[in-house]
Amino acid sequence: MSSHSSFSLNNTKIEQTHNLGSFIGSHCHGGETILLSGELGSGKTTLTQSIAKSLGVKKQVTSPTFIIAKEYNANYDKILLHCDMYRATTIEDLLSIGILEQLGDESIVTIIEWPEKVSVLEKAPHIHINIEQENSERKFIVSHHGTEDNNQSLYRDLKNEYTTHRHN
Ligand SMILES: Nc1ncnc2c1ncn2[C@@H]1O[C@H](COP(=O)(O)OP(=O)(O)O)[C@@H](O)[C@H]1O
Ligand SMILES: [Mg+2]
Repeated sequence: MSSHSSFSLNNTKIEQTHNLGSFIGSHCHGGETILLSGELGSGKTTLTQSIAKSLGVKKQVTSPTFIIAKEYNANYDKILLHCDMYRATTIEDLLSIGILEQLGDESIVTIIEWPEKVSVLEKAPHIHINIEQENSERKFIVSHHGTEDNNQSLYRDLKNEYTTHRHN
C-alpha cells in the first residue's frame, strides 16, 4: 500500500516525545494502528508510554519483547494493544495471537514496534512513525498508509498540528 502523505518533526528533547505521545493519545478514537520503527533506543517505547498515559492507561507500559503483545485497559472501555515484533518472524506468529484480525477494531488502539519484521503488516492500513536518531537529535517521520479509515483523522490532526504550530 502506498504512502499518501508524510511529514517530519525534529525532536531534540524527551519532552517533545512526551508531547507528541499526549497529542496522539488524545486524538485517538479507537481503531487506529500505529507502526513504530527506529533503532534500539530511538524512543519507540517512550512514545508508546506517553500515548498510553494520555489514553488513560494506569499501568506502567513496559516493552513486551518476550511475549510479543500486551493489552492495557484505557479510558472509555478502549484497549491499548502494544506489540513488539522483534522476535516475531512469520504471519503465523501474528495469527496465533490474533493481532491481524483485530487491526481496525474500534475498541482497540494498536501500537506495533518493529513492524518491518513481519512484512504483512505494511499491507494493513496504518500510520507509520519512523524515528531516525543521531546522538540527541531525532527526526520523527510520520506517514499515512491506506485509504479512508480510522487512521485518517488522526493523521490529519497530527499533520495539521505539527506543520502549522511550532513545537520546541
Ligand atoms: N527525545 C527523546 N525521545 C525519546 N527518548 C529519548 C529522548 N531523549 C532521550 N531519550 C531516551 O532514550 C531511550 C529510548 O528508549 P526506548 O523508548 O526504550 O527506545 P526503543 O523502544 O526505540 O528501543 C530512553 O531511555 C529515553 O529516556
Ligand atoms: Mg522498545
